[in-house]
Amino acid sequence: MAFFITGVSGFIGFHLATALLARGEEVIGIDIHTSSPFLSKERLNLLKQHRGFMYQAIDVCDQSALKALFAQYAHIHSIIHLAAQAGVRRSREEPALFARSNFEGLVSLLEASLTLKQINHIVYASSSAVYGRTKEFPFKETNPLGEPSSFYAVTKHSNELTAAYYKRAYNLPLTALRFFTVYGAWGRPDMAYFKFAKAISDKKPITLWEGQNLSRDFTFISDVVAGVLSLLDRKTRSFVPDAVNIGSGKPESVLKLIKELEKNLNMKADIEICPRPLEDLEQTWASIELIKKLTGWSPKTSINEGIAAFSKWFRVYKKLENQKN
Ligand SMILES: NC(=O)c1ccc[n+]([C@@H]2O[C@H](COP(=O)([O-])OP(=O)(O)OC[C@H]3O[C@@H](n4cnc5c(N)ncnc54)[C@H](O)[C@@H]3O)[C@@H](O)[C@H]2O)c1
Repeated sequence: MAFFITGVSGFIGFHLATALLARGEEVIGIDIHTSSPFLSKERLNLLKQHRGFMYQAIDVCDQSALKALFAQYAHIHSIIHLAAQAGVRRSREEPALFARSNFEGLVSLLEASLTLKQINHIVYASSSAVYGRTKEFPFKETNPLGEPSSFYAVTKHSNELTAAYYKRAYNLPLTALRFFTVYGAWGRPDMAYFKFAKAISDKKPITLWEGQNLSRDFTFISDVVAGVLSLLDRKTRSFVPDAVNIGSGKPESVLKLIKELEKNLNMKADIEICPRPLEDLEQTWASIELIKKLTGWSPKTSINEGIAAFSKWFRVYKKLENQKN
């Protein structure tokens, strides 16, 4: 039995694959290095050192390539679909690219997955962004989804509608993973915590959005990995949830995140306050009662511990980057 991961050399895909390989599983992964190619290739090099890992450079929108891969690896029993264009502000600049990777990518994957005979569970990345402009806190899976604040949110919302159709039409065991601001080592350079760390260490100003409640449900990567695995490891298919929040359940102010980075990098931030762009929500806050009830999982890492671990890795990454340039 094998696990199939799309977006395997991305931030979350890399950590999930590493955890699965460490426990002796077979992992088949695809990616085409569309985001942060330097980090993406470094992550892939690490994955390739594991026996049990197989990689192909396949675009998830290429349905015939996926079908050929699934014919070769018919023993795939779990699919983790993470390949996508991520980032709320960039989705305004490149909506067609986001629509293709995020919307067409899921349809292509689901069509190809119909050829697999032993599928236990298909989980795919959704996002806290689907809750949109809402005043209902914390965000519960049963809440009606709010007005999308970005085109990125539109693509993730439409993924959930697509999945609802495939679940009904073909009885596919599909679950949306609604991730909340995932951070950690090998993370994404376009995300705020990473940009802040880079600006602080380069002695450049950092931009903080206006807003008294500017906060995020920051979730440390190892907690996210444990949460996803807890869902995949459930033996019973009697109830396959449509959507599950994977968050810390404890929003922290963005200012606190900056303070933790300052402490760990031992440098002061130069903060510029600017109006919040239309795409960014003021606050995110996950209810994690559903996943706790289903699997017993709960997050273990505080923001202090998580940022300390990220900062330790960030120092090494900076050296690697400097050597490259
Ligand atoms: N990191 C977060 O905080 C967060 C929060 C909410 C949702 N998500 C979602 O989780 C998933 C993984 O996020 P991440 O942070 O690891 O992002 P990431 O950008 O690091 O990883 C995504 C990977 O998908 C690959 N990819 C993109 N288009 C592809 C295509 N057409 N074919 C094959 N590969 C393709 C990219 O090259 C990249 O390696 C994404 O779907 C993202 O939208 C992430």
